[in-house]
Amino acid sequence: MAKVYERLKNCYESIREQIPLQPKVALVLGSGLGDYADGIRIVSTLDYHDIAGFPVSTVSGHKGRFVFGYVGNVPVVIMQGRVHFYEGYPMEEVVLPIRLMKMMGAEILFLTNAAGGVNYNFHAGDFMMITGQIASFVPSPLIGPNVEELGERFPDMSHIYDENLSQILREVSHDLKILLQEGTYLQLTGPNFESPQEVKMCRILGADAVGMSTACEAVAANHMKMRICGISCISNMACGMTEQPLSHIEVKETADQVAPKFKKLITEAIIRMG
Ligand code: HPA
Repeated sequence: MAKVYERLKNCYESIREQIPLQPKVALVLGSGLGDYADGIRIVSTLDYHDIAGFPVSTVSGHKGRFVFGYVGNVPVVIMQGRVHFYEGYPMEEVVLPIRLMKMMGAEILFLTNAAGGVNYNFHAGDFMMITGQIASFVPSPLIGPNVEELGERFPDMSHIYDENLSQILREVSHDLKILLQEGTYLQLTGPNFESPQEVKMCRILGADAVGMSTACEAVAANHMKMRICGISCISNMACGMTEQPLSHIEVKETADQVAPKFKKLITEAIIRMG
């Protein structure tokens, strides 16, 4: 058996008894958005530290646990905190939690993140539905022997983000009168923010937002044929687009400010996806 799969199965076996429900939706919460999980009907939580072989985040402000519960009547598993490639974990570990949530039974993956706005029409505090992505600047999480149990060797990536889920998000944002931009997310490794020249490169390549997560997770999830949707919180305009130097504090502050709107959007969207 491939090493990646063996580790995944061991992880799953070690927590299997502690999974209280079969989730339909797996939700990944980005920087500053983690509080969302505290407001749902929680059934139980599971600290990443308590899962054998599970990668644990080192970034401040990133909690590390799975929250199991219900949004409306929809059973969910929420990742409160994720690990990033820039922390030094190999890609196969970065995407292990996504694969684990699929093993728990989740069919839908809802990805969120904080990202830098690259599109001049965006403003800090906007939300952007991810309609496409550029993952070519980070190694594919599928490098290495293919795990046939998860998916095929050469998976198609024509429609990573599910059109039906995206349509639900559009309708919810319309009904709640919350502006939802749309665009392409480009993942860089980080942890440094981009230079102005790199931001310009991202724009020339067709990106609307830039960040340090998400696209790799979507590749792994698409490999497993999960249905995927994603929202970036544009926590700041990317480097060089304003006079202000960037900081992680600013990213968290903006995410905190828009959190109430974000919670409404996510809640209603998950209810309609259930
Ligand atoms: N660049 C990369 N990642 C980010 C940014 C940014 O400007 N803001 C939040 N995450």
